Amino acid sequence: MEAMDTTTSSHPRRMHNSYEDEEERKHFQRIVSAFRYYKTHSLLRVRKTESYFLSLPQHHQKLLSKYKEHLQEVKRCIENNDQIIKLIIKDVAHIFENVCPTTAQVDNTLNLRPVMSDQEKVQATIKQLVRDWSVEGAEERKACYQLIVDEILYQFPLENCKPSDVHILVPGAGLGRLAFEIAKRGYTCQGNEFSLFMLFASNFVLNKCRDINLYQVHPWVHQYMNNLKPEHQTQAVSFPDVSPSDLPGNAQFSMTAGDFLEVYTESNHWDCIATCFFIDCANNVVQFIETIYKILKPGGVWINLGPLLYHFSDLPNEDSIEPSYDAIRDVILGFGFQLEKEETKVKTRYAQNINSMLQCEYNSVYFVCRKPNGHVDGVNHNQNGGETNSAQEQEN
Ligand SMILES: C[S@@+](CC[C@H](N)C(=O)[O-])C[C@H]1O[C@@H](n2cnc3c(N)ncnc32)[C@H](O)[C@@H]1O
Repeated sequence: MEAMDTTTSSHPRRMHNSYEDEEERKHFQRIVSAFRYYKTHSLLRVRKTESYFLSLPQHHQKLLSKYKEHLQEVKRCIENNDQIIKLIIKDVAHIFENVCPTTAQVDNTLNLRPVMSDQEKVQATIKQLVRDWSVEGAEERKACYQLIVDEILYQFPLENCKPSDVHILVPGAGLGRLAFEIAKRGYTCQGNEFSLFMLFASNFVLNKCRDINLYQVHPWVHQYMNNLKPEHQTQAVSFPDVSPSDLPGNAQFSMTAGDFLEVYTESNHWDCIATCFFIDCANNVVQFIETIYKILKPGGVWINLGPLLYHFSDLPNEDSIEPSYDAIRDVILGFGFQLEKEETKVKTRYAQNINSMLQCEYNSVYFVCRKPNGHVDGVNHNQNGGETNSAQEQEN
């Protein structure tokens, strides 16, 4: 997938991409099909429970009469989610700016086999709406995004710079809230994302949602376990909590689509790169760090927060290395970064249902590091005016 652009202003935007490639066209179709299959797949799950329920002895069924009603409610919630999904995938064929809509046209005749992991991603996308664009996600965002935004304000004080001259990149931007918050402060900010699940949903929020809390999803309806009360499973969450078009008139906010490693090749370009729950999404985390180092301007900063969940670890047919944070730290320093701030055990959550009996919390690592000022394109200008490269330095 190549870059796509969506410039977020109060005007509708289209994304920039190149979907000429047959493989990519098929991938596009597969994700649209996954969204379309959501209702069927989710209702099948409830019906399985209902069918077993109806096989229980009558007196058990009678004792569980409220539970039976609850299952009806679950089905209603799935229908409601499906209405939002229909809006998300409506017109997706047109979201890429540089693509003839017929190329990306959704082929209704294609009978794509549903993939289970894709259904999990549809459900995860619905939960991500809560993390990024709901009042219910405010605590989570405070713990994750606020730390990063505050650091940016500290590194590039608004009173000392022209914020639109500060170019900030957010790779793995998800549904775009962190990038939006950065742009809202006046900085020029670009989010980058390669998942079409996220891109379709962020396109809907950023380009189509004009009014606050106009839409509702039931993000926890697929969590059949660990519910204290039935309404904890069926809870409705409204979004967006703010109007995504509510940016300063001159705000420079864009989203690009594509693999971070392929889209960003220009050396010494960015003043700041902010990564949140991202670096563990690599097969080879060293490659992510190398790219971040390369594309940062000399003197530029990398701000990172997140755990090391290593998304490819133990996935069949996927390669993965899983270095500890200590080992990653060595890599960061090995490339020549100066570590300026470092904190471990930063309590963070990810798309968490706060009412669930099961809670998951990460002791995340937070750090700020800088590409040294004299370092251009892999060459260190040392204090004596000589030149070395970081690999040589390591050897010596
Ligand atoms: C765990 S999510 C974090 C999203 C967001 N930063 C947040 O904190 O909510 C990681 C995101 O990075 C995206 N991603 C992973 N590898 C990527 C790559 N190579 N290029 C672009 N995006 C990538 C995934 O699709 C996913 O949306």
